[in-house]
Amino acid sequence: MKIKREFSIDYSKLPKHIAIIMDGNGRWGQKRGLPRLVGHKAGVEAIREVIKISSDIGIKYITVYAFSTENWKRPEDEVKGLFSLLILYLEKEIEEIHKNNVQLSIIGEYKKLPENVVKKIDDALNRTKNNTGLVFNIALNYGGRDEILNMTRKIYLMTKDNKIENVEEIDYNLIESLLFTKNIPDPDLIIRTSGEQRLSNFLLWQSAYSEFWATDKLWPDFRKEDILEAIEVYQNRSRRYGGVKNGGK
Ligand code: FPP
Repeated sequence: MKIKREFSIDYSKLPKHIAIIMDGNGRWGQKRGLPRLVGHKAGVEAIREVIKISSDIGIKYITVYAFSTENWKRPEDEVKGLFSLLILYLEKEIEEIHKNNVQLSIIGEYKKLPENVVKKIDDALNRTKNNTGLVFNIALNYGGRDEILNMTRKIYLMTKDNKIENVEEIDYNLIESLLFTKNIPDPDLIIRTSGEQRLSNFLLWQSAYSEFWATDKLWPDFRKEDILEAIEVYQNRSRRYGGVKNGGK
C-alpha cells in the first residue's frame, strides 16, 4: 500500500483498539449536489481502506459506529439505503475480509434490524468466527445509554434469581461482562470526522480513558494517511489514567 508521507510510528506500541465515529457522509454528498446516500456509498470506500491498513499494520480491534439507536429518526429511504449498503458490503467484501484473517463482530441490538440484514450479518459472523487477525467490530443499532440500561436490567434479574447475593458482587468485571463489548478491550483511541467533537452516545462506559482525535475531513475523504496521523498523535500523548506520569518522579 503506497503511503504519501512518512509517519513516526512505533509499530510495537500501536493502540490495541481504535473506535471511529464516521461522520459527514450526508454533507459530502450534499456538497456535491448529490443525494446523501451517495455520501454513504463513498463512506463505505473509506471503511474498506481503514480495515485494510489496520489489518496490514497489526491493529487488533477497529470499531465503527455505523448505525446508532437515534439513526431510526432519519428518513425511511435513507435508513433502507444504509441497510442495503451494509448488505452489499458484506456480500462483496466477505471473501476479502476472510482471506485477510479478519473476524467480524457486532455490538448493538442488530437482531432488531430487518430479517434479511440479520441473516447476512449472521452468515458473515459465522464465516469469520475462527479468524485470528483484526477484529472488525460494527456498532449497529447501538447506543451507549441503551447498553448501560440493558446491563442494569440484567443485574436486577440476576439479583432476583439469587445469582447475585451480595452487593459487592456488582463490580467492574461483572458490569463489563454484561455489556455488548464483553470480549473487546476499551478503545485506546477514538476518532471522529467532520469537525464535530462529541461522543454522540458511543461507547459511554468504555471511553472513560480513551484518547480523542478529531479531524475536519468528512468521512468519505478519510484515508489511510489519516489513521496513521491519528496513531502518530496518539503515541505522543501521555496517558495517565487519573494518576501522574512515572509515579510523579
Ligand atoms: C455518518 O454520516 C454516516 C453514518 C453514521 C452511516 C455509516 C454507515 C454506512 C456507510 C453503511 C454501511 C456500513 C458498513 C459498516 C459497511 P452522516 O450521515 O451522519 O453525515 P452528516 O453528518 O453529514 O449528515
